[in-house]
This record gives sequence, structure tokens and C-alpha cells, in this order.
Amino acid sequence: MKGTRVILYMAVSANGYIADCDGETPWTTAEWNKFKEKVNEIGNVLVGRKTYELMKKDGTLADMPYKKLFVLTSNKDKFMDNEVLFVSSISDAIKILTKENPTQLLIAGGAAANTAALKTGLVDEIILDIEPILFGNGLSLFELSDYVKRLELINLARYGDSGVQLHYEVLK
Ligand SMILES: NC(=O)c1ccc[n+]([C@@H]2O[C@H](COP(=O)([O-])OP(=O)(O)OC[C@H]3O[C@@H](n4cnc5c(N)ncnc54)[C@H](OP(=O)(O)O)[C@@H]3O)[C@@H](O)[C@H]2O)c1
Repeated sequence: MKGTRVILYMAVSANGYIADCDGETPWTTAEWNKFKEKVNEIGNVLVGRKTYELMKKDGTLADMPYKKLFVLTSNKDKFMDNEVLFVSSISDAIKILTKENPTQLLIAGGAAANTAALKTGLVDEIILDIEPILFGNGLSLFELSDYVKRLELINLARYGDSGVQLHYEVLK
């Protein structure tokens, strides 16, 4: 039986950054709405501890229609938040979900969490919202590492005025 399907979803600048050099993410409202649609559809979301803290602080976490939120951290006993499940690996989140029901998990950044997810070999799909903006410098979609992953395009769609969504299957 196939267990939890893992989908990595990120907004990126047209030159591949997930945040600018100050850590800012000036994405369009159309992109945020697309992302929220997916969160609403899938329900289960995992973010890295830094993204969780940023989203909590700027209020975007409260605007995200998730059912279950996993936060990836190497210090899970340090945090207290009854609304959230702190996990020390992507596999732990998948184990919790697969125990309940075969379902889906959305990985939603940042770069460290994305890299941890990709390296497990458990990511099945990648959705990239290519935003109409360039950052001279910033945070890459994945941290530097030594993998090669081949992808197959499942879908290509426009959103908003100038956004493009690429949807890939990760070939295994
Ligand atoms: N473009 C987008 O759609 C998007 C989405 C999300 C975030 N972002 C941006 O991304 C930036 C944050 O990304 P980031 O890479 O700095 O941080 P991050 O991935 O959000 O969080 C990093 C933290 O996650 C935990 N972690 C990562 N890998 C782990 C592993 N293998 N095992 C256990 N814990 C692990 C660690 O937490 P501990 O230190 O607690 O151990 C680590 O410090 C922000 O600027 C944010 O705005 C952009």
C-alpha cells in the first residue's frame, strides 16, 4: 500500500530564490491565494522551525487553512504550541500521518526543510509558483548539496497577471 504522498510547494522568484537577501518574500496576492487553495485541499503541512517562527510573527500562519501543521526541528522538546506537532524528521511526520490514513503532506519551506525533504527521497511532486520578480541575491530553493533529481512536468499553468505554476513529478 502506498502511504503518504509528499508534495513540496514553493513560491520562487523568476531567478530561483525563495526569499530576498533580507529574508523578505514579497509575493503577489494571487500566489498566496493559490498556495492557500493547496493547503486547504491537502490539510497537512510541514515547515522548518524558522519559517514557522516567521509566519507566526507576521500573522501568515493564522491565515493558512491547514488542518495539521508539522514543524521540523532538532529541538522538539524546547517548543510548546498545542496547535502544532514538532517533529525531528520528515519521516516522523509521515509515520504519524500514515498511521492515521494514507494521505498527503505539503512541504512548505524554507530552504533547509526543503533540502531535508528532498534528501529523504520521499518527495513525490514539486509545485513551483514562479513569481514575476528578480532578486539580485537571496535564499535558494534548496541548500547546496550533491544530488541530481530528474523531474517530469505534470502541468503548466498561468495564475494572476504574470505568474506561472510548474507542477512536476519527481522521478524515482
Ligand atoms: N518562497 C516561499 O514559498 C517560502 C516558504 C517558506 C519559507 N520561505 C523563506 O525561507 C526562509 C527560512 O528558510 P530557512 O532555510 O532559513 O529555514 P527553515 O527551513 O524554515 O527552518 C530551518 C530549521 O528547520 C529545522 N531543520 C531543518 N532541517 C532539519 C533536519 N534535517 N532535521 C531536523 N530539523 C531540521 C532546524 O530547526 P532547529 O534549529 O530548531 O533545529 C532549522 O534551523 C525565510 O526567509 C522564509 O521567509 C519562503
